[in-house]
Amino acid sequence: MTKKAEEGEDGVVIKDGKEPQLTDLPGIGPAVAAKLEAAGIYDLMSLAVMSPASLANTAGVGEAVARKAIQASRKMLDLGFVDGIEFAKKREDIENITTGSKNMDNLLGGRGVETKSLTEAYGAFGSGKTQLGLTLAVRVQLPPENGGANGKCVFIDTEGTFRPSRIKQIAEGLGANSEKVLKNIFVARAFNSDHQILLLDKISEMIKNGEPIKLMIIDSLTAHFRAEFTGRGELADRQHKLNKYLHSLISLAEKHNLAVYVTNQVMANPAMMFGDPTVAVGGNIVGHASTYRLYLRRGKQGSRVAKLIDSPNLPDNECVFFVTEKGVIDGDE
Ligand code: GTP
Ligand code: MG
Repeated sequence: MTKKAEEGEDGVVIKDGKEPQLTDLPGIGPAVAAKLEAAGIYDLMSLAVMSPASLANTAGVGEAVARKAIQASRKMLDLGFVDGIEFAKKREDIENITTGSKNMDNLLGGRGVETKSLTEAYGAFGSGKTQLGLTLAVRVQLPPENGGANGKCVFIDTEGTFRPSRIKQIAEGLGANSEKVLKNIFVARAFNSDHQILLLDKISEMIKNGEPIKLMIIDSLTAHFRAEFTGRGELADRQHKLNKYLHSLISLAEKHNLAVYVTNQVMANPAMMFGDPTVAVGGNIVGHASTYRLYLRRGKQGSRVAKLIDSPNLPDNECVFFVTEKGVIDGDE
């Protein structure tokens, strides 16, 4: 992904074949790089997605310097524009998986979650994050005309909440053969964050062996990371590890044309005095990596609400859905 470059008008210097470092950017010396690293920004990708204001703030440099560094990092990572034909080509083999709710599918652009993307659902306990995952695990197996991708699913369970009986129930609600549906879901329990990361190699291997995996679920993305890195001084290390993991997820999704669905906890945001005082664990790191970010919460009369947050190409909007025996659906069907 990284490009070779020589010192040009933007001040980019890259040594041959070496992964570019923060200090290769104009205006970023060792002292500034150390400050960034202390804030969990270790690589160009993390810096490339920052705004000039927040980089200036974090690094203690002026906004003009920050802007230049961001532009240089984007150039080095080859982010930015591709021509229309290349873009269309990249998009043409994208497949979709219905969430079970037409409303939620529409919220996500019309056809549910998509391959080559990362969809994150965050929300309080009991908001429906796991239920949405289980529904997708069943629905991905449907043929495309019924909203699926004719694919199998990998479910990485970090919390021990995967329930085969619930899968069977959702499958039967759709009139599917529940044993077959269950057989197409590969479940792995991840016991800690290292194990969770290691499991990605296993998935690559399975795909290489010909398993038609179209959906990867990680429930929960952040729980182990949150439990393992508790001290204040460890926050940067946690964010760094999480960031690397997220980028591995995205490259797996793009390489193998599969959808990634991750769940994420919320925590109280003490800085917020009005409105819903919750923020997603992992903050901006997860937010920038997610293509689609859903905030789930309980609504009136047993309903639930999904809100699309900060989508680059879709309006911020929300919709109502329900969790029933059939999994996620629009209403009491
Ligand atoms: P945490 O993992 O604790 O953070 O929560 P979560 O967001 O994953 O919640 P989850 O998706 O597990 O939602 C739990 C809720 O789904 C329950 O409170 C029920 O309201 C609903 N639910 C779970 N199973 C069933 C079921 O079999 N039938 C019906 N009707 N509702 C169910
Ligand atoms: Mg859950």
